[in-house]
Amino acid sequence: MKKIILFLILVTSQVGFSQSYNTMWIPDTLSGTNFNLTIKDTFAQIVNTGNQTITGGINGKFWGPTLFINKGDTVHMNVNNNLNDSTTIHWHGMHLPAVMDGGPHQIIPPGTTWQPYWEVKNQASTLWYHPHMHEMSQEQITKGIGGFIIVRDAAESALALPRKYGVDDIPIMITDRDINTQHQFSIVPYGDSIMANMTLRAQYSVPAQYVRLRLLNGAIETSYNLGFSDNRSFYVIGTDGGLLNSPVLINGATPRYLLSAGERVEIMVDFSGQSGNSVFLKAYNQSLGNFIPGGESFPNGPFASFLGHTNYNIVKLNVTSATSNPFTSVPATLVSNIYPLEQDAALTRTITLSDSTGVTSVPILGPNAFILGHQLFDFNTINHSIPLNQTEIWELKSTSIFAHPFHIHDVEFKILTINGATPPTYQQGWKDVVLVEGGKTVRFIAKFDDYADPTHPFMYHCHIALHEDEGMMGQFVVTDASGLDEIKPTEIDFTIYPNPTNERIFFSFADEATDVYYLSIKNLSGKTVLMLPKPQLENGIDVSNLKKGVYFVELTDNKTKSKTTRKIVIE
Ligand code: C2O
Ligand code: CU
Ligand code: CU
Repeated sequence: MKKIILFLILVTSQVGFSQSYNTMWIPDTLSGTNFNLTIKDTFAQIVNTGNQTITGGINGKFWGPTLFINKGDTVHMNVNNNLNDSTTIHWHGMHLPAVMDGGPHQIIPPGTTWQPYWEVKNQASTLWYHPHMHEMSQEQITKGIGGFIIVRDAAESALALPRKYGVDDIPIMITDRDINTQHQFSIVPYGDSIMANMTLRAQYSVPAQYVRLRLLNGAIETSYNLGFSDNRSFYVIGTDGGLLNSPVLINGATPRYLLSAGERVEIMVDFSGQSGNSVFLKAYNQSLGNFIPGGESFPNGPFASFLGHTNYNIVKLNVTSATSNPFTSVPATLVSNIYPLEQDAALTRTITLSDSTGVTSVPILGPNAFILGHQLFDFNTINHSIPLNQTEIWELKSTSIFAHPFHIHDVEFKILTINGATPPTYQQGWKDVVLVEGGKTVRFIAKFDDYADPTHPFMYHCHIALHEDEGMMGQFVVTDASGLDEIKPTEIDFTIYPNPTNERIFFSFADEATDVYYLSIKNLSGKTVLMLPKPQLENGIDVSNLKKGVYFVELTDNKTKSKTTRKIVIE
C-alpha cells in the first residue's frame, strides 16, 4: 500500500496542485534558563485526511519546542517522562557533565522527572535533543520525539546575520517515514515519505533576501545530498558545533551538501529580487553511491524505500516580498575559532568500524550488524578512559563496506584528514558527526576538558539509530587523576526538614563540605519519581508535585559514590 501513497504523491506533484502542499510547521520556542519539557505519547493529523498517527511529542503533538539558550547561562531542565516506556533525553552537541548528558545511562522511568542543569559553554550553534534509550532509540525517534537547541553568544549576535526565527532564520528538521495504510509510522530504517519539520509535502514562505536555514538531519538512517531545484549556489556559514571562520560558497554546476543522520548545517540562501518565484530544497540522492545511507536502491525487504537512490523534493520555498531591513549580503568573515593543534595531541586513538562477521563475541547479531572497536556495545564496559584536559586524535578506520555517521558526545572536534586528504573547507569547522565512508579513514582532533567523572561515561556511536540500537556504540570516561587518593567510603550524615511537609525539603549535613553527586526520590514500591544529578540543595528541593505518602530520599556522595537513604513523608 505504501506504493499507492507514493504514486499519489508523485501524480499530484506532477500535476502541480498548489493546495496539495502543507505549510511547514515551525516548532514553538522556549527561552530563558528554566525549561519544562513533558514527553508524552500522543497523536497528530500527519496525513491530511483519515486516521491520525500515533506520535511522541515534547509539550506538543510531535517533535518539541526549540530551546533558545545563551552561552554563559546556567540552564535548568525539568524533563517529565509521561511515556509508557522509560526514555532518556540527550543534548546532542552540548558540552556538559556526563551525568547531565542524557545518554543511555540517565534512564528516566515513566512518570519520573529528571532535572539536569549545566552552564552553557558551547558557542553559538544549532544543536538538538532526542531520546537515547538503548535499544529503543530508533523507535522513540521514529515517534517524532526531539527538538532544536539554538545557542546564542556575543560573537554571533554581533554579526549581520538573520535571526528572526521562522522568518529569515528558519529551522528545518529533515526526516523520512514509512507511513502504513493505517497512517502509522513503521519502525524501519528508511521511509518513503520525506518530512520537513514533521510536515509532509511541505511548503514555506521565504522573504526576497538572504535567508538563513538551519538544517538538521533527524532521520533514522538516510543521508540527504542537499541542493536546490534550480541549482542555485549557497553559503555554508556553520556546521555542527557553530559558525565557520568565514562563509564557504557552494557553487558550480550542481551545488550540493551531503547531510548525514545527526548532522546540522547552517546555510545562507539569496532570494533577493525573486518575489513570486518558488524553488525546492531537494535531496539529490541519485548521485549517491550504493553504500551511502540513502544511496542504495532496495525495492524490497527491510531496507526498501522508494526514496533510495532518487532525487526528491523536501520543501517548496515560495519567495514573498522582502522584510523591512532585509539582509542583502553575507558577512565576509564570521568568528575566530581556535582549534586544538596536532602537535598538542597526547595520542592517537584508533576506533575501527566494521561488520561483525567472524567476531565471536557478537553471536546474537548475525552477519550484517556493524560494530566499533571489534566489540558490541556493553553497558558495563568502559571502552576508553581519557585524562581530563587531554587533546587526542581519533582515527576512525573503516573496514565496513557501508558508510556510517560517527558521533561523539562531550566534545566538538575538528576533522584533520579524510583518507589522508584535508577535508573540504566547509567541513573545516566544529563537528560532532562525521560520515566515515566504507573502507576510508577519518582523523579528527578534540580536547576533553572541563568535566571529569569516573562513573558516568560519555558515548560515541554510529548515528544511524538502527546501528546504534544494535550495538554500534562505545563509551568513555574522562578522569581527573588529582582527586583519586581522597576516596574513603563514608556515608553521608544528613537530616531532612521539615518532615513531614508538602512544599520544599531542606538538608542539613553533619559535614558541611558534603558534596552530593546525585539525589533521587523513590516511592514505597521502589519507583524513582524524581532524579536530580548534582542537586543544588541551598534553596531546598520542591516536592509539592509528589502525591501524599512515604518516600525515600537517596543521596550519593560525589567522592565515594556511597548512597545514604532517609525517609520522608509528604502530607
Ligand atoms: Cu544524537 Cu548519542 O546522539
Ligand atoms: Cu550526542
Ligand atoms: Cu552505522
